Amino acid sequence: MQIIRSVEQMQKTAEALRLEGKILALVPTMGFLHEGHLELMRVGKSHADQLMISIFVNPTQFSPTEDFDQYPRDTEGDIEKARQVGVDIVFMPEADEMYTPGAQTSVLVHRVTQHLCGRSRPTFFEGVTTVVCKLFHIMKPHIAVFGQKDYQQLTVVSRMVMDLNMDIRIIGVPTVRDPDGLAMSSRNNYLSPEERKSALSLKKSLDLADEMFNAGERDPAIIKKAVEAFIENHPHARIDYVSLCDPVTLEDLETLENENLLALAVWIGKTRLIDNRLIRDKKE
Ligand code: PAJ
Repeated sequence: MQIIRSVEQMQKTAEALRLEGKILALVPTMGFLHEGHLELMRVGKSHADQLMISIFVNPTQFSPTEDFDQYPRDTEGDIEKARQVGVDIVFMPEADEMYTPGAQTSVLVHRVTQHLCGRSRPTFFEGVTTVVCKLFHIMKPHIAVFGQKDYQQLTVVSRMVMDLNMDIRIIGVPTVRDPDGLAMSSRNNYLSPEERKSALSLKKSLDLADEMFNAGERDPAIIKKAVEAFIENHPHARIDYVSLCDPVTLEDLETLENENLLALAVWIGKTRLIDNRLIRDKKE
């Protein structure tokens, strides 16, 4: 497994592999790898000759009040896990290697970034699309793999690739959960044992909404209220948003369709967690 820290060396390596006719898959990450990340890597590997990952805690997607400094890091552990899944190349640049002083260019996807997480984190997606676009130019993948846990991020990146004619196939991978149902996240590391119990309210509220929908409820306001009440009934939990929205535009729905996205962001103590589920008619 090759570990590359310089942009120039990464570009040269990727170009050489392309000239050999190799198919390259990329899994971008911010490290502190867990089973969710590793699943993305297994999917990437099954579609490609060379599996590349990036480990970079991207400063431009954190606002000044967010957890950039505390974001968990475990370089040694990450390298070992990557080796075990069969990663071929790890690209792990320092921040000043990725962002040269005087940079004035960013990538901004407009409408689909306005909803859900875009409301409470207005600069987040610009940071994500800019760094993902840079990683695509540096690592030159044919395929890039993203998790459905970050449903809006997957939507925004797919939109960018489509709108800017990037010749890259985006693959989405279903959310990987702990045995008790909690969606895996590097941020779960922040939770106390008490908070972790409350964090289960996210997944359980998705189950509740699913049951209501399949029992025939079609009023989004009623489902939303039940989900909110369920979550708020847990200690340490404070809702950022609960949205029943169109799975493509992410706009709130007035009436439910055959397929709907229920997306949640909830503060558990000082930790903001997200989860989502496609709520659809199981009989169809
Ligand atoms: P990070 O949070 O490290 O996540 C890296 C990738 O792993 C993302 O595509 C995310 O959706 C996926 N992922 C995380 N938890 C998952 C889970 N439980 N199941 C399935 N997939 C999961 O997302 C980012 O980093 C950054 O925004 C990044 C895209 C790297 C840009 O900086």
